[in-house]
Amino acid sequence: MTKLQMFRYGIWGLIVAIIVVVGAASLGVLPGRTDKSAGPGGTEIGAPFTLTSTTGGVYKWGETGTDPDKAHAIFFGFTLCPEVCPTTLFELTNWMAELGEDSEKIRPLFITIDPERDTAEVLADYISPFDKRIVGLTGTPEEIAAVANAFRVYAAKVPLEGGDYTMDHSASVLLFRADGSLFGTITYGEDSAVAAEKLKRLANS
Ligand code: NI
Repeated sequence: MTKLQMFRYGIWGLIVAIIVVVGAASLGVLPGRTDKSAGPGGTEIGAPFTLTSTTGGVYKWGETGTDPDKAHAIFFGFTLCPEVCPTTLFELTNWMAELGEDSEKIRPLFITIDPERDTAEVLADYISPFDKRIVGLTGTPEEIAAVANAFRVYAAKVPLEGGDYTMDHSASVLLFRADGSLFGTITYGEDSAVAAEKLKRLANS
């Protein structure tokens, strides 16, 4: 074997090794991958939760959830949000109207990531101008942190001058089938027609 041949075999060996490792990792057979099957439908995003609802009492998501037959469009935000949250709630309202009968198959949830200020009353008042099917959810800071973590949602307090604060947070709407499996996401600023089409497919998934 010439040096060049050895070099070529070495490169191919390396490529095969990389393919095997990446393939094994994607199948979840390597150690250090313990976060799968977190959701009720075996998805890697989401976990069953019980939170305080704007409709009174609690709202449950998961295997024995409050709306077992509905798909869910879940959005995390806060009522003092200057732009992203009101825009998303406004768009959600339009998409739900466009869906017609299919909208009955979807439960939109607005989960606050600012539970210290967003009580159920504050949330209920905030979402009242939007689609009536939207349910607002809050809880203790610990409950909200656990849910945000399970749904891979980023949320952080950003201090403002004078001791006040605002919140920085992920802005995507997470779409889940009725069985709890992740269907997809609608990113902030996504084309409205594309987003409406996603919700239509979600409703009939
Ligand atoms: Ni926001």
